[in-house]
Amino acid sequence: MVLQSLLFFHLKYMCFYYIMPFGEKMNKIKLSMPSLKDARMRKNKNVPIIRYQLDSKYQTIGKDKTYYIFTYGCQGNEADSEVMAGILEQVGYTKSNDPMNSDVVILNTCAIRENAEQRIWGVLGQLKGRKRENPDMLIGIAGCMPQEEKTTNRILESYDFIDLVIGTHNKNHLPKLLYEAYMTKAKVVEVISSEGEILEDAPKVREFHHKAWVNIMYGCDEFCTYCIVPYTRGRERSRAKEDIINEVKELVAEGYSEITLLGQNVNAYGKDLGLDYTFGNLLYDLDKTGIKRIRYTTSHPRDLDELTMQAMHDCKSVMPHLHLPVQSGDDEILKKMNRKYTYDEYMSKINRLRELVPDLALTTDIIVGFPNETEEQFENTLKLVQNANFEGAYTFIYSKREGTPAASMVDLVSEEEKHKRLNRLNEYVNAGYLKGHERFLNQVVEVLVDGHSKNGEGMMCGYTPHLKLTHFKADDNSLVGKIVKVRITEAKTWFMIGELCE
Ligand code: 5AD
Ligand code: SF4
Repeated sequence: MVLQSLLFFHLKYMCFYYIMPFGEKMNKIKLSMPSLKDARMRKNKNVPIIRYQLDSKYQTIGKDKTYYIFTYGCQGNEADSEVMAGILEQVGYTKSNDPMNSDVVILNTCAIRENAEQRIWGVLGQLKGRKRENPDMLIGIAGCMPQEEKTTNRILESYDFIDLVIGTHNKNHLPKLLYEAYMTKAKVVEVISSEGEILEDAPKVREFHHKAWVNIMYGCDEFCTYCIVPYTRGRERSRAKEDIINEVKELVAEGYSEITLLGQNVNAYGKDLGLDYTFGNLLYDLDKTGIKRIRYTTSHPRDLDELTMQAMHDCKSVMPHLHLPVQSGDDEILKKMNRKYTYDEYMSKINRLRELVPDLALTTDIIVGFPNETEEQFENTLKLVQNANFEGAYTFIYSKREGTPAASMVDLVSEEEKHKRLNRLNEYVNAGYLKGHERFLNQVVEVLVDGHSKNGEGMMCGYTPHLKLTHFKADDNSLVGKIVKVRITEAKTWFMIGELCE
């Protein structure tokens, strides 16, 4: 039987095989390779909804085997890893806590910046040594990096010990691809560069039992000139509202308290469906499910509309925190970034939202050193940070991404200057973090408890409605997943400390 299947695969994929020099993996099955050109396309066709069903042929491929998934990058990747874990467990694998002693190791990767990629190449280097000692270990690379042509070509040329290369669009093929890798002992590559599909009904192993990611849409059509995501994640495509609402109802029934709605640009939810139903409508409907806390990320300032802001005001479950990436405070840079708003438009959006949600906690993303950013343009960003009252920001040095428009822009700013700007920016940003915590001093806040904190013995931690990490003295596992009242006694830059109220 095994021999038969082996023969079948050899015949089926013979045309894709490479003959490699002695000592390297002999066979490569290239089911499909990434293409930036294809990834750029936005064909106006209906997005297929794939209802996941396991082929019984793969039902036991993971029996008596273990798996480990490394997850890098955004919450979208965390949610994808939960799906991959669900699929692996469904075919018999059990989760391991030790990557070096697992039968299958998958790296779910991020391509957003060069340094994210460097870290991943480093981990692959460590796994290479382990694979030499344990040749039966199967190593897979998934997520955004394989979607880049240069990465998959590099893996094919120089990373012989990687057995499986899979992109962002085909998690549902994982059992089939693993099966092929086992049966053929070849390197199996399937990276699809298309607009993408919507995967429904896939099993998930969620990391927590009290808070959950809920994808509401996939992909991005914004094409900010610095960003690789529209090429790695496909076209904007929204899940049907019924599928989202049913998922949230199930989570409520299972005892979940918090959901975070996910998408690269959640404010564009529904646009592709051509219905008169947008993100704001979805918030109102989800508020009725009985879920206690709703968060969402990430937003695009241009698409943040009045209905969404009204929903933040009206819906008790929608938390008073918004992550609204601004990227720069300079109009010319914003234009070169293709962000489609100005400094003034950004400020008027947040001012309007603050009229509706006066205690809003606002956080953002900022890039310094975009090609040829001048000192004056950078200072406009500092000005915006002072005026916008951010209570946190992820700050980055611009990283050149091959294939994006910004990669071919002239850039004469030195790396040293970019680092200096980042440090100057972070001083303002860190002051905002502290101020955002100080405003809760002596107040009683509600904390959804995550578990024991790493901030000292006998401490537990969780997040407030404003997404403030809070540590408090307690040692009681039964509190995990509960919302408790905590009086804030100390405000630090990165967290708050408080006392549990009786
Ligand atoms: N260089 C630096 N930062 C980037 N981001 C996206 N692409 C790049 C890049 N090429 C940042 C943006 C985005 C966040 C997720 O990552 O700030 O909002
Ligand atoms: Fe990238 Fe811009 Fe899309 Fe965000 S909105 S994922 S920064 S292209």
